[in-house]
Amino acid sequence: MDFKYESYPTLPPELKALILETVEKEQSNLQSTNIQMNASEAVIAAITEDVDLTNNLGWHYSESKAHFPFICDYYVFDVPAEVAIWLRDNVSAQPANIQVMTAGSHVPPHIDEIRKGALNYIIEAGGDVRTVFYNVKTENASQAATPFTVIPYEKLDISNDVDIQAERWHTLNTTRIHSVEGINPVKKRIAITISILE
Ligand SMILES: [Fe+2]
Repeated sequence: MDFKYESYPTLPPELKALILETVEKEQSNLQSTNIQMNASEAVIAAITEDVDLTNNLGWHYSESKAHFPFICDYYVFDVPAEVAIWLRDNVSAQPANIQVMTAGSHVPPHIDEIRKGALNYIIEAGGDVRTVFYNVKTENASQAATPFTVIPYEKLDISNDVDIQAERWHTLNTTRIHSVEGINPVKKRIAITISILE
């Protein structure tokens, strides 16, 4: 299962407003991490040191801008305390972040780092956006998909393509190769993302 809507409640309007406010306020402090997910620095260091790109499907994410000039900037930051409490009581006690994709048209094919899945809630779609899942083409089947890489479209076949509705909780299988397409570069795609670690 790549994608499934969940029945958790809709975020109250005042908490949605608080998240939008936080995104505006934090914008100057945001640090671009491209597709690097939020994780402790120790965990990121351990993984980045060990990225073995021998016989790999993709390029290291540090080269992503050279291969994908229209890649979005990708920001992750903490949810405000009030939101964290509401999420804990109504959705999940797992770690939650706000993610923002902007200033580009897509997030190229990749698999997420560390986490096994994501429980997400889109606050602003950021355009006419689709989330696309891929299978590796047969001729590339011997190559590995590794976190911290971006994978060229030519090596992939589209498996399925979802128009995820805003303000509906859903789970994504982030161990599958996926991309986000159709982002309006002058808008922001804003979502709450809860990491499913096990
Ligand atoms: Fe992802």
